[in-house]
Amino acid sequence: MAQVNKESLEKFINKNLKDRVFFIVTNREPYAHIHTLDGIELTKPSGGVHTLLNIVAKASHGYYVAFGHGSADKEVVDKDDIVKMPPREKLYSLKRVFLSKKELENYYYGFANQMLWPLSHAVFVKPEFNPAWWEGYQKVNQKFAQAILDVLGDRKGFIWVNDYHFSLLPKLLRESGKDLKIGTFWHIPWPTYEIFRVNPWAKEILAGLLGGDFLAFHQGYQVENFLHCIQREIPAKIEFDLSRVTFNDHETRVEALSAGLDYDEILEIRNKTRQSRETFMKNELGFKVEYMAIGVDRMDYTKGLIERLKMVDRFLEKYPQFIEKFVYFGISPFTRLHIPAYRSYSKVIVDLAEKINWKYYRNNWTPIVIKTDSLARDKIIAYYKFANTCLVTALDDGLNLVAKEFVLSCKADKGMLVLSKFTGAAKDLRQAILINPYNIEEGADAIYKALTMTAQEKKQRNQKMREELKRRNIYSWAIEFINKTLYD
Ligand code: G6P
Repeated sequence: MAQVNKESLEKFINKNLKDRVFFIVTNREPYAHIHTLDGIELTKPSGGVHTLLNIVAKASHGYYVAFGHGSADKEVVDKDDIVKMPPREKLYSLKRVFLSKKELENYYYGFANQMLWPLSHAVFVKPEFNPAWWEGYQKVNQKFAQAILDVLGDRKGFIWVNDYHFSLLPKLLRESGKDLKIGTFWHIPWPTYEIFRVNPWAKEILAGLLGGDFLAFHQGYQVENFLHCIQREIPAKIEFDLSRVTFNDHETRVEALSAGLDYDEILEIRNKTRQSRETFMKNELGFKVEYMAIGVDRMDYTKGLIERLKMVDRFLEKYPQFIEKFVYFGISPFTRLHIPAYRSYSKVIVDLAEKINWKYYRNNWTPIVIKTDSLARDKIIAYYKFANTCLVTALDDGLNLVAKEFVLSCKADKGMLVLSKFTGAAKDLRQAILINPYNIEEGADAIYKALTMTAQEKKQRNQKMREELKRRNIYSWAIEFINKTLYD
């Protein structure tokens, strides 16, 4: 089968969405304008879900609706709060929704990230249930619904709703009575019913999501968990064999659709790195080392960073021949720092890294380097290219794009992924070294295995995983998502 690419997605959208206005709605914007000493500058994220959504938005020529968080965002939009993006090609309209400090506090830091986030991830961090946050979350969902409906006017629409920030949006949009097709992608895990039921707003959230035509998760067990929650909480008809729920005379299909990558784009960036490993390491790390492990994650308690550092410690204890020859380079930008759990987690990581570093320190060598601000995408991909292993130790994760990006970017006969079984990506990347991230001994041995595996075995495993990544890429993922929302 020919590889599905950018042109296929564009063609598909042109043909199937001629009569509908295309919207992607998500919390985080793909580009932010910020004030700097040199005037207004544009920043963009270095990876993650928003890189994927940006690709889809470019092919759609439609609207991207998101919270405008940049310090200069308001200064560059028109009277409808719209600015054309990307800056040169101007392929789609970025509609910014501006939120007050209070709205942000209740909706984003509160309900989305101190209630839904810990509730959805099985990481033993207690969600907090605060009625003021719930109130704020509902209001912001209404505000986004209104922003979409204002732009839409009397036209028909196609709305791609992204993630847990907007669980009420499908229902709110449906209630407008307009001719809409609504697809929702829930990127984080969905918990089992015994966890979900403690949420005082369980019914409202489920009913909100059932306002859409299609609801997708990355993996099948997440779909099963969701359907069981519906079964216990909502008087809906569920057809398990068809993965279909009918509620209030409206049908919603619920399926697993694991996201892919822009295969060609990543290879292109990777091939642009012409420096040798030695030069790169000297310029970037500041020193040369025989074995490099890389980690790329926001400093989030779901990512298993404490466990990862303990694995590095145990690895060096158990295999001292790697002392002075190995470094773990963690790109771990601080995130959601207004939330106490994130502040304390970040402190623990910095403390633990220092403790382990001091334990092994010799001849100016320490085993752990952590960078707490983000790096440009091409730099991250260059790190993947030169790393011997990438440690993905998430305690629970909807997918984990880093794992997929590493497999594609590393040298096939030199890099080997160590991957937590508890990520959605583990279902797609079966040839990685799979671990239980709570098992430190297993993690330490996995690092050893990744570093000592023969070049031939690494190559075979990576090639197998790459074939799959090529076949199921971002474009085939987006086409399938749109197709299922429109027709199934
Ligand atoms: C998770 C969510 C994404 C979100 C990302 C970053 O992966 O599934 O939707 O964009 O975290 O979170 P932030 O709060 O920084 O937008």
